[in-house]
Amino acid sequence: MAINEEVRSVFWENNQVCMIDQTVLPARFEIRRYDTYQEVAEAIRAMVVRGAPAIGAAAGFGMAAATQQSKATTVAALMDDLRAARSVLARSRPTAVNLFWALERMMRVAEGGPWSSVDELRRAFVAEAEQIADEDIEINKRMGENGAALVPQEATIIHHCNTGSLATVGWGTALGVVRSAYAQGKKLHVLVDETRPRLQGARLTAWELKNLGIKHTIIPDGSSGHYMRRRGVDLCLVGADRIAANGDTANKIGTYNLAVVARENWVPFYVVAPFSTIDMSIMHGDLIEIEERDQEEVTVIQGQRIAPEGSPASNPAFDVTPHHYITAIITEYGVIRPPFNVSLHKLAENLKAGM
Ligand code: MRU
Repeated sequence: MAINEEVRSVFWENNQVCMIDQTVLPARFEIRRYDTYQEVAEAIRAMVVRGAPAIGAAAGFGMAAATQQSKATTVAALMDDLRAARSVLARSRPTAVNLFWALERMMRVAEGGPWSSVDELRRAFVAEAEQIADEDIEINKRMGENGAALVPQEATIIHHCNTGSLATVGWGTALGVVRSAYAQGKKLHVLVDETRPRLQGARLTAWELKNLGIKHTIIPDGSSGHYMRRRGVDLCLVGADRIAANGDTANKIGTYNLAVVARENWVPFYVVAPFSTIDMSIMHGDLIEIEERDQEEVTVIQGQRIAPEGSPASNPAFDVTPHHYITAIITEYGVIRPPFNVSLHKLAENLKAGM
């Protein structure tokens, strides 16, 4: 089964939240269907859906599910149920700011009434969640075009984690830049970091690139320095889960190592993320909460224990790359250059002023 624009990673169908189950790819392509926000929160926690923009869209649909499952007969009672749903969904994963961005956007709709009936609010919630999902694809394509301009006609690219259609609603962020550059006829070779411990690179990015017919090679995470030094790497492309106001970027664990090695080897290091991933309320990256996941994700691979029973493990899901390692941040509004504390602030101000 090939992923294409018709198959979104998360969507609304028959009053259910539907998602491609990313825990079983590439062995199986299965769609999960959920009726309740509690199930959606659990799907986000278990990484059935993952990737910052996809998590945001799933949270939007989770809120839509909350309106459907609520037995409230008054708008005031429905608002109480929505506040409860928001706090359950907000506890699913802490790092990707898109989750909180989408929840706040949904709550702003609810608070923007007046609503003549609970059904009117239900319809508005489904429409808003659909809107978040539609916008995501459109934004990704704009980022793809902005980023493709930075990709040479022939390029070897290191990519970390999965930032493609699966990590968004469709198209992708960093992998969206690869897709856009490829669509322009550029000759690309993507070195796919396998991305331990959940193997988003080996399982998901390789699956997407294979379906798209883009040349790629899966590499061990620790080999990127070797490739940059010996084999000629033109650029690194990564996504982001949260970008602080000074440009410090939280992304999948291992991104920081990649950025440091890129600097050491004079390889440009680009972060590709929509404006919704930028958290101007957080001044620097040390203030970003880093999710700690179950240590069994490190010691057990696909049901097989690889470490001695009883050896402790640690599993931070993300790290923070300090802003000075980042060449540029590619957004739907253009390519943002250092100093990021100035350029991000200017972008945020311009957007607030409607420019
Ligand atoms: O733990 P995950 O798989 O949700 O982490 C995903 C990433 O770190 C991605 O790089 C990030 O969300 C950007 S995806 C467009």
